[in-house]
This record gives sequence, C-alpha cells and structure tokens, in this order.
Amino acid sequence: MMLSFRHLVSTSQLSRADADAILLQAGEMEALLKKGKSDLLGDKILASLFYEPSTRTRLSFESAMHRLGGRVLSAEGLQFSSLYKGETIEDTMMMAGQYADIIVMRHPDKGSAAIAASASPVPFINAGDGPGEHPTQALLDLYTIQKERGTLEGLHIAMAGDLLYGRTVHSLSVLLSLYPGVRFSFLSPKELRIPEKVTSVLRASGLAYEELDTLAPGLDADVLYMTRVQKERFTDAAEYERLKHAFILTGDQLKGKTVTVLHPLPRVGEITTDVDALPNAAYFRQAGNGVPVRMALLALLLGKA
Ligand code: NCD
Repeated sequence: MMLSFRHLVSTSQLSRADADAILLQAGEMEALLKKGKSDLLGDKILASLFYEPSTRTRLSFESAMHRLGGRVLSAEGLQFSSLYKGETIEDTMMMAGQYADIIVMRHPDKGSAAIAASASPVPFINAGDGPGEHPTQALLDLYTIQKERGTLEGLHIAMAGDLLYGRTVHSLSVLLSLYPGVRFSFLSPKELRIPEKVTSVLRASGLAYEELDTLAPGLDADVLYMTRVQKERFTDAAEYERLKHAFILTGDQLKGKTVTVLHPLPRVGEITTDVDALPNAAYFRQAGNGVPVRMALLALLLGKA
C-alpha cells in the first residue's frame, strides 16, 4: 500500500484513502501483536528525537519499532542536543538521516516539523510541534473512535478543554473532516477557543459545528474528547491557574450516559479517577492503540506494508 505522502507533518496532508489505509494496517498490526514476534523492520533504524517532554508518544513509537524487529536511536531534551548549541533543524535532520532510515521528532516550536520535513533525507514524522499539530495522536484517536463506536461516519464529537493550545484537537478535528456527517461541539472557556485554522477546514468540508463554554453538551455526544489545559503554553501563570480546572468530568455526570470518553493523556485533574471504572472510559485503551497505529505508520512509510 502506498500513502500519498513521504513525510507526516499535519493531518491536512491525509486523503480519505490514506486514513483508511492506515486504519486497516493498524488492525493488521494489532492482530500481529497478539500472535507474537515480527521481523518486518528487522533491517531498519528509527531516530527518535524528543526535544520536549513525552512519555506515551516516545515509548509507543519505540515500542512499535521494537515490536517490528527494528532498532531505535534516541535523543532527548533540547539542552543535551546540538540544537542547543545553535545547530539548525535542517542540519540536525541531515545528520540524523545519515544514521537512521526514518525520523520521529517532537519540538517545542510550532512550524518546526515543516522545516524538518523539508530537509529530511529520510521519511519524517511529526510527534508534536509545540501548539501546532500532533498527527500520529490524531490517527490513534481515529482508530480508537472507530473501534469503540463501530463507525466514523455521522458521529457527534465533542472536544472539551484547552482547544486553543491543544494540538491533538487541531489534528483530530481536521482528520475527522474526511468522514461524512460528523458534527462537532467545541466546548471551552472563551479564552481557550478552537482556532480559526481548524474551523475554516470544517466549514470548507460543509460540516456542522458549535462553540459553547460549558461541558454539559458533551455528555450527550457520541464521543467526548477531554484535554488538559496546556500549562507550558501560557505566558501568564495566574491565567493558567484560573483556567486549569474550568471543566472537570466526574462519574456522577456520566450516570445513564452512553458517551465514549477519550483523553490523549496526561490528565491533570480534568477527569476524576472514579470515571476510570465506567464503561464510558476509553482513554487507557486509546493509549494502548498508540502501538499498532504507529507500527502501521512506520511500516507504510518504510515501504514494508
Ligand atoms: C498530548 C500532547 O503531547 O500533545 N499528549 C500525548 O501526546 N499523548 C496531550 C497533552 O500533552 O496534553
């Protein structure tokens, strides 16, 4: 199977055929994981460059590579890297591309991934560029929604929390715009509203959306995608403190509701732990789906699937 792109920077690059191919391949990878070992990427090396904190994304990419028999070189933390010495992102890519067959990078600056992709001699994957995008999280979110709800078409999706800085929301909303009949409720404090760059894509696709400043309408959606208020993007600490717990989802609110609750994690209080035991809570299964989805993407971009 061939994807229409060589580097993944933004979900706006994906066609419906790309998204469907990745989901299909991820299903096959999940079956493969149950069977045991694979050596599909036995001769491949992944460079895993994380210049901003990450646990899930980095570990699941590295796990995905190992599960397919590949190897991983990793660099972590801006302060320990050549970027800190003043090396450009372009030069870092040229260098990493000499050592590895594929590069995954997380970086604090929005736009850094596009620069990296333009210079990378090998396939490049954006694992989060500051408040910009996080396309692989969106793909695993999509895979999770399909698994949990049985379809991707005609769903009512509520996104709640920090919709301004939450890059996973940006990437997922654009990706879901490929599926007919999806409608969105964007629920956030006024200060953290969804950016125009996202809503303009939905308007262009003819999809309905509403923007509200309460959490309650999300309880009756098909999917409620909760997010953390992104502390590291605030310049004013007092503003963060004021907004951090604007929306808190509790077990009580979910009584009698069939909504599927997702969260890219980490959560910092916006979903109370009594929700975890409810059938609505799909966020840990969602985190688990990161491995087969990233296995699929690595294999497809390396021309091995
Ligand atoms: C998200 C991220 O890094 O954008 N986490 C993740 O990748 N699972 C969400 C967040 O940090 O709030």
